[in-house]
Amino acid sequence: MTVANLGARTVLVDTPESERSHAFFWDGRVEGLEAQVLQPIANPNEMGLDGRALVERLARVPGYAPYFAESFGSTQVILERVAAALADYVRTLRSGNSAYDRWRYAGDASRMSVSAQRGSDVFFFKGRCATCHAGFNFSDGRYSNLGVGWNGTAGRFADEGRAAVTGRPADRGRFKTPALRDVSRHAPYMHDGSLPTLRAVVEFYNRGGNENPWRSQRIRPLNLTSQDVDDLVAFLHALESDRPADVAPTIFPH
Ligand code: HEC
Repeated sequence: MTVANLGARTVLVDTPESERSHAFFWDGRVEGLEAQVLQPIANPNEMGLDGRALVERLARVPGYAPYFAESFGSTQVILERVAAALADYVRTLRSGNSAYDRWRYAGDASRMSVSAQRGSDVFFFKGRCATCHAGFNFSDGRYSNLGVGWNGTAGRFADEGRAAVTGRPADRGRFKTPALRDVSRHAPYMHDGSLPTLRAVVEFYNRGGNENPWRSQRIRPLNLTSQDVDDLVAFLHALESDRPADVAPTIFPH
């Protein structure tokens, strides 16, 4: 286990590799980026296109042929190649050089407000956020139950989370700790998008999440002051990278 020394205080910041899930989706139902990228295409709630239809459609567009030839050595369109290309694109999406990184790793506070600096203290110590949002990407790669989506009247979760994958009752309502880099760029929050703003997320934690029979022991009321809440929100904004937002192409192969 890695230990980081932040000034005089020492905190645990990482999960042993053997315990870190590299699976994708909030419930970790898919292993590997190549498998992940195909799921939204096939999902009827998203694009609702089966693999065969996708391949046929792409093969009808002559403009793609040179790209397939260049990348794979022939113009043949097959699903594995489409998945490999999409997965490689996703691998180019990076995040870094945030105001927080500049301050933490380069001692440059020019983009890090005093409030965000105090928020760092709340994140790592008073709020204990880093017990789960740990390491370089602020995720321990584990699954936890915060009570998001809990229906107290019905006594169940709208979405079973990790339990739907493992079949283990103890995994009910558990979801994978999301990385927090660029988190300010993709509201709404949580697996069900139930919290509209970062402030709403911090307030949710401050009241101890939603109590339910499987809630994580690490989730309990935090007694943060309203100044702490402001500072923690400022800290989360300081995790925004200096990368420009993605812009969809306007011209496509035809
Ligand atoms: C017990 C582990 C744990 C702790 C402690 C924890 N988190 Fe989380 N965090 C999670 C999990 C798991 C989710 C996803 C929950 C879900 O959707 O059901 C999450 C979601 C979030 C999100 C939403 C991200 C998104 O993309 O939707 C933010 C922001 C966040 N946490 C910030 C914090 C802050 C700030 C703290 C400290 C006050 C904190 N977390 C403490 C595990 C934790």
